[in-house]
Amino acid sequence: MQLSRKDFPDDFIFGTATSSYQIEGHGFGGAGRTHWDDFADTPGNVVRAENGATACDHYHRYEEDLDLVKAAGFDAYRFSISWARVLPEGRGTVNAEGLDFYDRLTDAMLERGLKPFATLYHWELPSALADMGGWRNRDIAAWFGDYTETVMRRLGDRMETVAPINEPWCVAWLSHFLGGQAPGLRDIRAASRAMHHVLLAHGRATEVMRGLGMSGLGCVFNLEWAEPAEDTPEAQLAAARYDGLYNRWFMGGAFKGEYPDIVLEGLEPHLPKGWQDDMGLISQPLDWCGINYYTRSNMAPADTPWPAHKPVPGILPKTFMDWEIYPEGLYRFLTRTAEEYTGDLPIYVTENGMAALDEPGPDGAIEDDHRIAYFDAHLAQVNRAIAGGVPVKGYFAWSLLDNYEWSFGYDKRFGLVHVDLETLARTPKASYHAMTRALTKHAEV
Ligand code: NOJ
Repeated sequence: MQLSRKDFPDDFIFGTATSSYQIEGHGFGGAGRTHWDDFADTPGNVVRAENGATACDHYHRYEEDLDLVKAAGFDAYRFSISWARVLPEGRGTVNAEGLDFYDRLTDAMLERGLKPFATLYHWELPSALADMGGWRNRDIAAWFGDYTETVMRRLGDRMETVAPINEPWCVAWLSHFLGGQAPGLRDIRAASRAMHHVLLAHGRATEVMRGLGMSGLGCVFNLEWAEPAEDTPEAQLAAARYDGLYNRWFMGGAFKGEYPDIVLEGLEPHLPKGWQDDMGLISQPLDWCGINYYTRSNMAPADTPWPAHKPVPGILPKTFMDWEIYPEGLYRFLTRTAEEYTGDLPIYVTENGMAALDEPGPDGAIEDDHRIAYFDAHLAQVNRAIAGGVPVKGYFAWSLLDNYEWSFGYDKRFGLVHVDLETLARTPKASYHAMTRALTKHAEV
């Protein structure tokens, strides 16, 4: 890599990220059924109907995996806790084995000097709660608050940071309007409710953790740069609506207690009565802001009901996800976030990375120079933002391991470490070795 630790402030945190359902193996340890298991069971939702039953078997191999995190020289590990592993029915009886697992996992991080960056919801809603309306039901804020309390009474004293929700746009819009993730709905009313309730649950969980005396509380937003596909007022409106729905709704809610008008025009008729009264809880002060950044979308008008827009293919080189590689978007978001929403609040890039085919060559080595270049290009934009005064405090590479890429199944490999899907053997890729040199040698390599 061109960049290394010496190019960043001394207290800058380098980490790598994963999530529970994508790596643990949900078939183990008494975890309850989740709406992702249900979603994957419907033919056509997920490539080869794959699910997270075994995933990377991290549940049994977490020591080996954390050794890899440590050996690479990372300072922190971003992981998530599965609601259904802790509370198989979503409420009520605790699965002691599940909570014990996260207790061991936390201690295993601390033993290795890794700072735990926890997320409480990275998408695997217990099926029992999905059956009660899931994110459409306002009660989810209370259910989530109770789950948060159960987990953090046990782990809260050892967390460096906690984000209640990972990527609220995916939880709400992608899953309830675009149908791309569990529960796979395509319904404006369901989506509108989810757009509000996901932030309400974030607020309630934050309130619960403050009540436990915790600090280090934030939220992790996925931001995608919205570009008008052509220079017309119609394309500009399409992009502005996308920016509103994808980015500004959640940032505006969480940091300003207000939703953008450009989105309210479509969602307000479907929001629960009195939604304005929730904005205080939703926008209570946070300690940091997390940004997951991957790509941009080029938006054009579409002859469909609101929001009446569609993405069109762009001209930049693409990853195996077909996502354009647009590093400057990260700089633009870091700058915009600080200027318009968060001021001096620390910002972490909580995810950034790329998918590729990544199979071993004849000598067994996995040469993923494309990933090294991707990290370098994005880290350069982080540096540019820091130089401009944006308080970016850390960067997490997505992901430690090749893992379950949701509706894409296991085809899309994002890992620094290759996982053989038959044997589950871990093999560090060239990017892992480059990252290790960049983080441990303090020299340009
Ligand atoms: C964001 C999500 O948090 C993560 O679960 C996913 O695997 C990556 N993006 C890549 O799509």
